Amino acid sequence: MRRDIAVWGLCLLFSCRSTESEKKLELETPVVVSATDSGNNKDGAQLFKTCVACHGQNATGNKSLGAPSLVNQDDWYLIRQLENFKTGIRGTDPSDTQGTQMAAIAKLLDSPEKIVSVVAHIKSLPKSNTTKTIDGDPEAGKQYYSMICGACHSEGGIGNKDLNAPRLVGTDDWYLYKQYKNFEAGTRGSHPKDD
Ligand code: HEC
Ligand code: HEC
Repeated sequence: MRRDIAVWGLCLLFSCRSTESEKKLELETPVVVSATDSGNNKDGAQLFKTCVACHGQNATGNKSLGAPSLVNQDDWYLIRQLENFKTGIRGTDPSDTQGTQMAAIAKLLDSPEKIVSVVAHIKSLPKSNTTKTIDGDPEAGKQYYSMICGACHSEGGIGNKDLNAPRLVGTDDWYLYKQYKNFEAGTRGSHPKDD
């Protein structure tokens, strides 16, 4: 995600105003991660034991550890992020301590099958609503969203696989906020292969 867009993300939360609304958004070619390897849910359950300490038994996340809920997210995005953590596209900046923590774990998933299996397990868990933890002006946010974000993240925040733009609804608000800050600081999204 581009950094100027991340600034808009902050604006979305703080309802600030900017004169950059006319700025054109250029879509870059999305990076395609193959998800053709078949996943095994049983192996996935075994592999997921490594994840429980931070993401919880039901993958509903743990705010105090910075580990987000994973259950409502789409499989292709979870796979892509695990690949990105594993290959050093995400979570390499030393100041991003939580990202580097997750990157170390992702390296344990040393085959595409393992990644697909663990995601298959996550997707077999019950969906769970996240708790609202951030105050903002939803009406102003709605306008920013439809002006700026909807082009990629789709109406209703359901994401767009063709653009690699993830689903935003169903994700923890504190996690979205933190990711905006990371994009803005360049601790996420600076790698040439991370769009
Ligand atoms: C030591 C704690 C820890 C463990 C163990 C852990 N994670 Fe994470 N995970 C995190 C943190 C913290 C983040 C958020 C990183 C960030 O802020 O960029 C994260 C982020 C993620 C993301 C990115 C989600 C998104 O929407 O961008 C995925 C996917 C993920 N973890 C999957 C897993 C899986 C699968 C396992 C087990 C193989 C696992 N994690 C084990 C702490 C952990
Ligand atoms: C040009 C297309 C585009 C636009 C416009 C855009 N995004 Fe994104 N966004 C992306 C892509 C692609 C990613 C995934 C980046 C990656 O894989 O690391 C992303 C990732 C994110 C993430 C991280 C989610 C997670 O689970 O890790 C957040 C939060 C986000 N966008 C919010 C926004 C908001 C809010 C706006 C509007 C202010 C916005 N984006 C506008 C393409 C876009």
